[in-house]
Amino acid sequence: MTHPAPTELLDLARTVALTAGALAHRRRTEGVEIAASKSSPEDIVTAADREVELLIRGLLADARPNDGFYGEESDASGGSSGLTWVVDPIDGTVNYLYGIPFYAVSIAVVQGDPDPASWNSLAGAVVNPTLGEVFTASEGSGAWLGDQRLHVNHDVPLSLALAGTGFSYEAARRVWQANVVGGLIGQVRDIRRIGSAALDLCAVACGRLDLYFERGLNPWDHAAGALIAREAGARVGALQADAEGRDLLIAAAPALYDQFEPVLTGLFERFPSDAGLR
Ligand code: IPD
Repeated sequence: MTHPAPTELLDLARTVALTAGALAHRRRTEGVEIAASKSSPEDIVTAADREVELLIRGLLADARPNDGFYGEESDASGGSSGLTWVVDPIDGTVNYLYGIPFYAVSIAVVQGDPDPASWNSLAGAVVNPTLGEVFTASEGSGAWLGDQRLHVNHDVPLSLALAGTGFSYEAARRVWQANVVGGLIGQVRDIRRIGSAALDLCAVACGRLDLYFERGLNPWDHAAGALIAREAGARVGALQADAEGRDLLIAAAPALYDQFEPVLTGLFERFPSDAGLR
């Protein structure tokens, strides 16, 4: 089946993400309450997460009825077109709950099975409604913040790299992740924990971070952001040429990635994760 050009799919992703971002922002100003918890009491969902995902799902289904849908807050559905929309209605839900202005609507469209190990990302939009920032990329057409073309920072040695990471909602995994970060912090400029993987990846794309890594991400956390970082010149993957995924995601300029990989491998050997924490 032939598909529209990635730039055309991006127009849809951007329009829907902007509409969804406006709704998320409005609901935030009205006040936010926890609707339920998921994998742990810290892993929460708000009514806005669900409402925003429903809105996105409806708009995408109206425009592209034959595509699949894979979102954080509702059941996945397959399509017949070979394309799937991978959606996080509010990435950075805890920031959203606390009124920290770093949350984002993240919408990507991928070709192939909705699995980061094999999919081909065609287009992605990440909108931070509080700051009014719109990050976009489509395959082969570069990454953008509004109308500004993005490029990752090059020529940064690991010792001067500002590195971002994130922590799991599971306490045991978080403790292990903190050990790894403890081993890294003396080897880089400093560490940031922004609280939204989508925005972390966009931060690498626009040079606000030199490097980002995290273990335990879900596909919707990184689908759009990884394409944006890649199109800005980052290498995005895991260890030993593996694709990014739940096990690990690393994003950085290629030379920095090469410096970081053996260091992270060493830290994983020094702090082996327990069974079940992968
Ligand atoms: C989370 C954020 C956070 C990351 C977590 C994610 P959510 O997504 O991206 O930065 O550290 O791993 O689960 O729950 O806010 O959509």
